[in-house]
Amino acid sequence: MAFEVRPLSDVLGAEVIGLDVAKPMSDETFARVHQAHLDYLVLVFRSQKLTPQQHVAFSKRFGPLDRHPSDDAVVSGFPDILIVSTRKENGRYIGVPDGGPMWHSDLAYKKETALGSMLYGIEIPDQGGNTGFANMYKAYEALPMDLKKAVEGKRGFFLAGRSNADRSFKRPLNEEQKERTPGNVHPLIRIHPETGRKCIFANPQHTLAIEGMDEHESADVLSALFEHTAQEKFVYRHQWQVGDLTFWDNRCTHHIADHTRLDDPTYIRHMHRTTIGGDAPFYS
Ligand code: OGA
Ligand code: MN
Repeated sequence: MAFEVRPLSDVLGAEVIGLDVAKPMSDETFARVHQAHLDYLVLVFRSQKLTPQQHVAFSKRFGPLDRHPSDDAVVSGFPDILIVSTRKENGRYIGVPDGGPMWHSDLAYKKETALGSMLYGIEIPDQGGNTGFANMYKAYEALPMDLKKAVEGKRGFFLAGRSNADRSFKRPLNEEQKERTPGNVHPLIRIHPETGRKCIFANPQHTLAIEGMDEHESADVLSALFEHTAQEKFVYRHQWQVGDLTFWDNRCTHHIADHTRLDDPTYIRHMHRTTIGGDAPFYS
């Protein structure tokens, strides 16, 4: 099927125009989409009409799916689909209201971290609720020499639970979910397994400390690193429309939800997310 790939910014992101991802896709078309994803890091497919089955089927073209630890926030009958939603029923959030309180990449705390995530916008507020995406190849390439020296070749401790303590995380993991989600050690800089390019993998939501480094020095280095990675020059902010399917590469990008009205009951933002599993990050 013929489709067009139109860049969304100079930083990252492209819109895929003229492709209905709910329909079966030839290997040739799929190969072009796959290449566009590697080239642009974030793809946006607008005006999609996806059933949960179709969302899962398209996601699985990229590899086996993985699951978020919040296994009680999924679509009924579809354990692979996480509900990212500010909707409440009987006073309780039906999903994860704030999927990204800080810059992060998905499942970065697992041993095998996520390849990508596909987030499908079903209900979008008139204002707010953008998603920021940051290019970690560019952030790596622009690292000041002293910071590069401090992080290159080092590993860090990654943990999901960090966001439980930080900010007002509205749906923290319960004890059992936390127990099932231990932390892991990963390189701070990783080599992307498909492009072979280096990128920054550490993120402020999950990376707690640098292995083998004094606690204070580690905190200083990480805070300098995360000040660097969050610079606007690496960021594209996606303004959602109903029917948008965004597909980001978790290996070489960070993302964050821009929720300024989370406590406003008229702020309804309802989405479905699948997560494509990946491999253990490596540096050499
Ligand atoms: C996610 C996430 C960001 C958003 O679903 O993984 O971080 O804007 N979402 O909802
Ligand atoms: Mn996320």
